[in-house]
Amino acid sequence: MKALAILGSTGSIGTSTLEIVSGLPQQFRVVALAAGSNLDRLAEQVRQYRPALVAVACESSARELVRRLGSAAPEVCWGPDGLRQVAAESGADMVVSAIVGAAGLVPTMAAVLAGKDLALANKESLVMAGELITREARARGVRILPVDSEHSAIFQCLGGNGAREVRRLVLTASGGPFRTRPRGTFATITPEEALRHPTWSMGKKVTIDSATLMNKGLEVIEARWLFGLPVRQVDVIIHPQSIIHSLVEYVDGSLLAQLGVPDMRVPIQYALTYPERHENAVPRLALDRLAGLTFELVDHEKFPCLDLAYEAAGTGGSAPAVLNAANEVAVHQFLACRIGFDEIATVIRKALDAVPGRSLGSTQDVLEVDREVRERLENH
Ligand SMILES: NC(=O)c1ccc[n+]([C@@H]2O[C@H](COP(=O)([O-])OP(=O)(O)OC[C@H]3O[C@@H](n4cnc5c(N)ncnc54)[C@H](OP(=O)(O)O)[C@@H]3O)[C@@H](O)[C@H]2O)c1
Repeated sequence: MKALAILGSTGSIGTSTLEIVSGLPQQFRVVALAAGSNLDRLAEQVRQYRPALVAVACESSARELVRRLGSAAPEVCWGPDGLRQVAAESGADMVVSAIVGAAGLVPTMAAVLAGKDLALANKESLVMAGELITREARARGVRILPVDSEHSAIFQCLGGNGAREVRRLVLTASGGPFRTRPRGTFATITPEEALRHPTWSMGKKVTIDSATLMNKGLEVIEARWLFGLPVRQVDVIIHPQSIIHSLVEYVDGSLLAQLGVPDMRVPIQYALTYPERHENAVPRLALDRLAGLTFELVDHEKFPCLDLAYEAAGTGGSAPAVLNAANEVAVHQFLACRIGFDEIATVIRKALDAVPGRSLGSTQDVLEVDREVRERLENH
């Protein structure tokens, strides 16, 4: 039985992960959970899954959780050190990294340093510190199993084949809710409109990233680190139905694709059970739906965030961490109605131009860049 620690248990990926655990009770037990501030959901999860260790965002939330759980309360810790404890000291065999944003970096790295296998949803940590994380993982024989549906698809299509046989990876993108909306109207897009994703139900930040296509940009960088190919060999194609989850093109012209209904429980479960496959309750794909599959090129003028991600990946060093931090700030400002949808890319562009590039030798260096970008943009 595999012992799991779940970072971000109250989120979209976290709750789907727990659903999978409930469906496969012989395979998994939950030893630790970490969340931010959704104490109602977290308390429910603690009662149901009985982890020995739980982390929350701050000390007052920790006190409140203990009060609510009374004699059923496990050990409760808080803040970045609490996340680190859940990742590294909870006795887990595998850590599910599903916190949103830069807050996922420290516990993801802590899990790797402690030699825990990772089921990785928190793409931001690989964008910020992909070189450091993958180097430490290799040194410790840690497996990083992708949770993102596109990367799970590529992982499955690679089937252990080496990078030398691969011509390119092709990430599919739904195109988000504004694929057909005229660019001239982008300034008037509201957060409510941007949060209405056509095919996936996800947390707010990743939903906005999907609407700007920055999510695909972050995934290009994630793929670069997970599969060890330069970003010039990672392409993106729009596929509005989200049935083909991504493809691998081999040097002999063969294209391998992975298909299925758009449901995150499939890639999450595969990361948890790899290399085995198990039954689940996900609806099957009706093959007659394939007649309606379509593909389009990305409109780069409409969605400049994708090019910004390629540019940052090409620059390397601190640039992807700057891109990530600026994007998080801009998404937050857009959701708070402080900037327009079309200004998200402008904020990121300015940050990439303003913050001097440097090499990143440690997690501390990465966090320093992240802090600097946030300070600059928030004092603006
Ligand atoms: N959702 C998807 O379908 C999907 C698909 C592929 C990849 N991903 C990636 O998976 C990650 C999670 O996405 P999501 O959609 O599940 O996000 P979400 O629904 O917003 O959930 C985020 C989780 O992170 C927790 N959290 C946030 N800040 C925290 C902090 N400082 N300390 C501790 N916990 C914190 C939240 O806790 P509280 O809610 O309790 O505050 C929540 O449990 C993202 O990196 C995303 O890009 C998501």
